[in-house]
Amino acid sequence: MTLTILGIESSCDDTAAAVVRDTEVLSSVVYGQTDLHADFGGVVPEIAARAHAEKLDHCIEEALQNAGLKLVDLNGIAVTAGPGLIGGVLSGVMCAKGISAATGLPLIGVNHLAGHALTPRLTDQIPYPYLMLLVSGGHCQFLIVEAHDKYQRIGGTIDDAPGEAFDKTARILGLPQPGGPSVEKAAKSGDPKRFKLPRPLLNQPGCDMSFSGLKTAILRARDSVVAEKGGLTVQDQADLCAGFQAAVIDVLIEKTRRAMQLYLDLNPAKRSFAIAGGVAANGAIRDGLMQLCAGLETDFVAPPLRLCTDNAAMIAYAGIEMMRAGHRDDLTLTARPRWPLDQRAAPMLGSGKKGAKA
Ligand code: KG4
Ligand code: ZN
Repeated sequence: MTLTILGIESSCDDTAAAVVRDTEVLSSVVYGQTDLHADFGGVVPEIAARAHAEKLDHCIEEALQNAGLKLVDLNGIAVTAGPGLIGGVLSGVMCAKGISAATGLPLIGVNHLAGHALTPRLTDQIPYPYLMLLVSGGHCQFLIVEAHDKYQRIGGTIDDAPGEAFDKTARILGLPQPGGPSVEKAAKSGDPKRFKLPRPLLNQPGCDMSFSGLKTAILRARDSVVAEKGGLTVQDQADLCAGFQAAVIDVLIEKTRRAMQLYLDLNPAKRSFAIAGGVAANGAIRDGLMQLCAGLETDFVAPPLRLCTDNAAMIAYAGIEMMRAGHRDDLTLTARPRWPLDQRAAPMLGSGKKGAKA
């Protein structure tokens, strides 16, 4: 049976609604909040929650209109129920509960990370199992995705997520937020070798990563340029960005190589690797991982950029898989600030600025 689901996402600083029919995205609307947080150098949870509460209705109306559908045409409502900034998650969950109570449509609470992790199935219908690198502003982990509700985490960051490090690097260098796209743009005209930057944990065994030292190294490098010349030129900024991005790529590629080895030891017949999360929008990171996969004769799936960053189509799609498996929530659905996908894995260290790491 065809399933048409409305997805709602409000766990960080994007208010999003989308309508997905099986694997077809009928509409996907994202209202960003970058301007609201611009003066504060980061996402302010209370401002985010209020903006979600104000915008959700309009966002949902627009998503339905773009899909040419009304609420009665839907089979269910999927909403991000965590992990994330609790006020924002609550805004979405309350809104979804309201619609469900008023229409009788089934309600499904979705893990935001599952939304990212299942995106390659929405875009490329990739079969289970596959290895995924989920890399965003709040998360960085290697997951073996075995089913919509079965994940094995085989490594991750022990401190900052790469997106957070991109955002902080941009802030340190006076570039606009979100930092990922501005650092990537500046890096294009930079020399990645001018500054010697660390590759944290690269020589340690396993797939765990660390990015907070890199950010401190950028701060020190900037301070020494400023001390020497009294300020930063555009070329200094570009060189620092290129050096930072090259260090992140080196770490991600080497750790992915190891994660792939671990994954292939467990699943020798299924050679597929996918990336998701906002940092997967980075062209240089995508290219590096693509080359790695080509060398390992492994399929590489990278969703289109608009489905890598936060969106509600991924939540609607995860809801479709859950609904097909018989999952339903009711009005007791709660918002969860922390919600690891792999409940058996030990919690990672650190809690991140953009929501708890899982
Ligand atoms: O997945 P996402 O939209 O939100 C969550 O964190 O869940 O990811 C946002 C993060 C931000 O830190 C942003 O700077 C980063 O993804 N990002 C990028 C790029 N585009 C977005 N990082 C590196 N390069 C990019 N092109
Ligand atoms: Zn996300």
